Amino acid sequence: MLAPTNSCRHFLKLSDLTAEEARSLIDRAIELKRMHKSGEDYRPLAHRTLAMIFEKSSTRTRVSFEAGMFQLGGHALFLSPRDTQLGRGEPIEDSARVISRMVDAVMIRTFKQETVERFAAHSEVPVINGLTDRLHPCQTIADLQTFYEHRGDIRGKRVAWIGDGNNMCHSFMEAAQLFDFELSIACPEGYEPDTDFMEAAGDRCTLVRDPQEAAAGAHLVATDVWASMGQEEEQTRRETAFGSFQVDDAVMARASKDALFMHCLPAHRGEEVSASVIDGPQSVVWDEAENRLHAQKALLERLIAPHQ
Ligand code: CP
Repeated sequence: MLAPTNSCRHFLKLSDLTAEEARSLIDRAIELKRMHKSGEDYRPLAHRTLAMIFEKSSTRTRVSFEAGMFQLGGHALFLSPRDTQLGRGEPIEDSARVISRMVDAVMIRTFKQETVERFAAHSEVPVINGLTDRLHPCQTIADLQTFYEHRGDIRGKRVAWIGDGNNMCHSFMEAAQLFDFELSIACPEGYEPDTDFMEAAGDRCTLVRDPQEAAAGAHLVATDVWASMGQEEEQTRRETAFGSFQVDDAVMARASKDALFMHCLPAHRGEEVSASVIDGPQSVVWDEAENRLHAQKALLERLIAPHQ
């Protein structure tokens, strides 16, 4: 008989973790990466299934969750609204009730934070936010793992976010509170982070209009595409607004000498970042992408591995 899984606990935002849990998740991700690279056979999720619901296409999130479940001995099930009843008007609450009776956890990438929260409210198993319009917590865990691997503890360090006050920016704002670092955000007028995130972040986060000012003395500079999910139709308007917000050599020159550059990818060279920066020596974007795998394995283990 299979042992019961851990109690139903969702991961819809970074702040669903305590600071201690978040830090130990990073440590565990680093350890699981070491185990994987040294070829250790570790399958705590044997006979466990993760349902992956993708309302929007993905490379990193899909591959990392699917490979991660396989490596931990479990199975991942890909569900898209195009070929399930999810896209034909079945209420999200009913989908949650049904799917969660058949699998051990659910990962959802959806356009609205409200959808993932409604799903979680009716799910009998842990639900993981694989990106919404408001948050991308799985990416931020991988980003922090990458910083720890390259530079050690991020506590007390300075991070610059350049560009849209979007889901990634919001997750960095949550991370600043949880991991105790300073976040300087440079965004054009009209593209600020949501007010509730600004209020929650308090004096951990400052908002400026000049990318070079935000980058001054930063130990990490991060950005994202100018048009995120659901905003593709306004691409042209955004190119005008964001034109002076490219992370280029001049911006990186204002950062700390050993500053890292991160981008959650996919990236548009020549738009939000110059090729010289993303392909340059300070860029850790490939480690950052790889760490989606290890960070999510740590998360899956925490949420659905059976009690020892
Ligand atoms: N960074 C990220 O979430 O990538 P995908 O959209 O490819 O999953």
